Order: sequence, then C-alpha cells, then structure tokens
Amino acid sequence: MDPKGREVAGYRMHAFVCGHTRPEGSVRGCCSEKNSLELMRKFKLDTKAKGIHDVRVQKSGCLDFCENGPTCVIYPNGDWFKITDESIPKLVEFLQGGQLPSEYLLDITV
Ligand code: FES
Repeated sequence: MDPKGREVAGYRMHAFVCGHTRPEGSVRGCCSEKNSLELMRKFKLDTKAKGIHDVRVQKSGCLDFCENGPTCVIYPNGDWFKITDESIPKLVEFLQGGQLPSEYLLDITV
C-alpha cells in the first residue's frame, strides 16, 4: 500500500487538459490563450469538491487539436472534449459515473 492508501497504481478515469502555450501570433494558436489553465484548475477543484478521489485531472502538453480547444481528453475510453465553463459541471458528472456529455465532444470539423 502506498502513502495514500492505494494498493494498485492508476486511476479509474484520467483527464488531461492541454495547458500548452505558443508565442503570440502563432498560426495554430494554443489552449492556454483560451483560458485552459484556469479551466483545468476549476475542473480539478470541482472534482475534488464532489469527493471523487479515484480519478485524476491534470495539465498536459499540446494534445494536437489546438484549433479546436481548449482541449480535454478523458481515459480510459479516450473521449475528447472542449472544456469550457459550461462543460465543466457535465465533465465532473461524467467522472462521477454519469453519462457521456456528448454535447461537449470535441468537434474538429469547425
Ligand atoms: S495547444 Fe492545446 S491542443 Fe495544442
């Protein structure tokens, strides 16, 4: 057992939110200029506030869907989302075992 009382490594679900930054004026833009770090912090805090302890929400590097972000991917299924103030409550519900919030799936056709 590790210091946090866990007997096996890993999480039931694992969410990554892109926190990548590119120089101003770059062609692809970046998620951090679309407030991704603040959104990630809110997502993480709201998850903890719900008492969901078997998941992890954390910052990632570029997830390579820069134009469509701010980008979030949640494993184990590898579901991709656009994270916004509006999507965070649904993403937290999803981590809690709720339905896939399909209305916030990342749309790369726009
Ligand atoms: S900068 Fe966020 S996906 Fe590339």
